[in-house]
Amino acid sequence: MIIGVPREIKDQEYRIAITSGGVDALRNNGHTVLIERNAGRENGITDEEFVNAGAEIVASHEGVFAGADMIVKVKEPLKPECDLLKEGQILFTYLHLASDKALTRSLMSAKVIAIAYETVEADDGKLPLLIPMSEVAGRLAIQEGAKYLEKPQGGEGILLSGVPGVAPAEVVILGGGVVGTNAAKMASGLGAQVTILDVNLDRLRYLDDAMEANVITMKSNEYNIRQAIKDADLVVGAVLITGGKAPKLITREMLRIMKPGSVMVDVAIDQGGCIETSHPTSWSNPIFEVDGVIHYCVTNMPGCVPRTSTYALTNATLPYILEIADLGYPQALREDRALAKGLNVVNGKVTCEGVAKAHNLPYYRLKNIIS
Ligand SMILES: NC(=O)c1ccc[n+]([C@@H]2O[C@H](COP(=O)([O-])OP(=O)(O)OC[C@H]3O[C@@H](n4cnc5c(N)ncnc54)[C@H](O)[C@@H]3O)[C@@H](O)[C@H]2O)c1
Repeated sequence: MIIGVPREIKDQEYRIAITSGGVDALRNNGHTVLIERNAGRENGITDEEFVNAGAEIVASHEGVFAGADMIVKVKEPLKPECDLLKEGQILFTYLHLASDKALTRSLMSAKVIAIAYETVEADDGKLPLLIPMSEVAGRLAIQEGAKYLEKPQGGEGILLSGVPGVAPAEVVILGGGVVGTNAAKMASGLGAQVTILDVNLDRLRYLDDAMEANVITMKSNEYNIRQAIKDADLVVGAVLITGGKAPKLITREMLRIMKPGSVMVDVAIDQGGCIETSHPTSWSNPIFEVDGVIHYCVTNMPGCVPRTSTYALTNATLPYILEIADLGYPQALREDRALAKGLNVVNGKVTCEGVAKAHNLPYYRLKNIIS
């Protein structure tokens, strides 16, 4: 199969969908990999490195789309890219179609085979192609929170670790899933005093076993959240209700009990945020203040560390890329139920129930399409 990897053209998106190791693995299985010139530059991967791994460098964005059987990307295709897609071409990337009717329509009329990273789902409900970005965001939440606790950044002027003779900071994490666990690991490693709140007692049991002694767990309810945030220097919002909006666990009225200059990183902002006063922010203007509390609500946190995020993402996507390339998409989807859940649009038909429902479009069951 010929696999095409274009440069990402979305604003401030620096990741790339393949590394030189991925190119090498595809080449070893007999595939051809086309990469747009300079596509890996922001990740420190040169064209020369890609060529040494066996890729062919293509001078233009258009050339990659024209020459490939499968396009592998990071972000959804933008309008000019949709115009380049060909009938029968496989598109494997993050798509988030439920919130984008225009893109859904474009992919339907282009008659591509659109497989979305975010709906690939294992039998146990885990989303293997979302987990790596949650790992990055969770760790980053502490790094960013520590920065905005600094006085020149507007924070209360406190070092997370403390020093001998001075107490460390109090970090409160709402939600002990992938983001919350990774945030807790970072904060605890730095020596902060960490409290994780979750509604799932089994999860709290696991965290209690797995974490260091400077991490304590609490059942998430309004009373306990109030107790925890009144002494908090840094709060991380990391809750998720699958398929739903994040619950508002910290209301505006609750900000009054918090310390002035404390920081809240609402990682769950991409699902509406779990803090009532949150609203989405971007890299160019990541924070704002409400009632003396700094809010950090960047919706695409992993984008600021593209080198780490590229490798984290491609570690997870490469096995699926290889499967599709080796077997062809119908056989790959028949053999891998998790991958099959990733198919969103094929031959003008929507095969993801959530997307069909969101846009009031007919839903086609996958087994009628690939059997
Ligand atoms: N901003 C970004 O760049 C970015 C990046 C990655 C992930 N995210 C978002 O971060 C959020 C968390 O993702 P995740 O991968 O950790 O999800 P996850 O499913 O692994 O964990 C969510 C946790 O929240 C807990 N929870 C649910 N309701 C709760 C409540 N009322 N109180 C406390 N805990 C509660 C669940 O029990 C679960 O343990 C999601 O909204 C995800 O989309 C954002």
